[in-house]
Amino acid sequence: MDLALLPPEVAQAHGSFPAALAACADLDGLMRLKGAFVGREGSHAARLMELLKAAPKEEKRDLGAAINTLKNVWEEGLKGRQAELEAARKQAAALGNAWDPDLPAPCPPTGALHPLTRLMDRLVDVFRPLGYHVEEGPEAETEAHNFDGLNIPEDHPARGSADTFYFKEQALLLRTHTSPVQVRVLQRIAAVGPDGLSELERAGGIRFLAPGRVYRKDEIDPTHSPMFHQVEGMLVGKGIGMHHLKGTLAYAMKALFGPGAEVRFRPSYFPFVEPGAEMDVRCPLCGGSGCRVCKGSGWVELLGAGLIHPNVLRLAGIDPEVWSGFAFGMGVERTAMMVSQTPDLRLFFENDQRFLKTMGGLD
Ligand code: PHE
Repeated sequence: MDLALLPPEVAQAHGSFPAALAACADLDGLMRLKGAFVGREGSHAARLMELLKAAPKEEKRDLGAAINTLKNVWEEGLKGRQAELEAARKQAAALGNAWDPDLPAPCPPTGALHPLTRLMDRLVDVFRPLGYHVEEGPEAETEAHNFDGLNIPEDHPARGSADTFYFKEQALLLRTHTSPVQVRVLQRIAAVGPDGLSELERAGGIRFLAPGRVYRKDEIDPTHSPMFHQVEGMLVGKGIGMHHLKGTLAYAMKALFGPGAEVRFRPSYFPFVEPGAEMDVRCPLCGGSGCRVCKGSGWVELLGAGLIHPNVLRLAGIDPEVWSGFAFGMGVERTAMMVSQTPDLRLFFENDQRFLKTMGGLD
């Protein structure tokens, strides 16, 4: 091919074509190069065609042949480079999706403990350093453990089928509180071993928490649910008085709500304690000035408590002249609602991820 036949700019462009082609890093760049060399208008090829048209007849043949050769070189070059760039793009995309053994394995989203479970765990953590361990009892209980052993009289309203879920066929009920665990543990530690000593005597006392579900025939509303949670606590020792109970609970509430937490005790009645009390904490939301959560009183009731009634010890086979103790039962949902400022108890049971992901404010 005779480059001398071509205008000098075209000859020069042709000389730099291979380098320009190699410099195209992507298909966009290549399309621009294609436009400049073989595009319909304004390209080198278009210029050459005009040149051909204007050329004298006797030159047309040679010039035409040279132009064709040139266009072929360009077109082939562009096609080849396009194929290369397309292959590279495919390979990059494939690599992007490929399994990379150096990356950590993709994990399914991890689960998390329910906010109520976390709160109960926290309570257990607060009491563990004080020597408390965890005890459990069945949710399907006997009347003997749920009522009789707790000194609850035959005619007590809680025994009625209006308040308690009874099983039709068996002599069982769904426990209405975690206090039957008191009875189970007292009976167990009262049993005398081969050495003639009870577990209670051998250990010199006992202290435990019993977290769990309880059931009452309540309609579901923002503050009631037929299933809810309590954490029972009990300590049996010698010479135990209200001061031990108050000191223990005041300490626990500070550990739970912060060092500024204040508690107060009001006299109350439960058949299985004497004296009995209810404990309030200074509303952690308003600090006592009065708000929606504490209903303007500045205090929130958290638990029932008292010194173990001598009858409860006696019924379990423990001598109340020797042993004494305290017990308390704390409402978990009530505490959770307060801590997390959740106005509706049902949120804890509906399992809406948006609520649970915030841990109900209990992080
Ligand atoms: N069992 C009581 C209730 O459910 C709470 C309580 C426990 C009170 C232990 C005193 C002692 O309301």
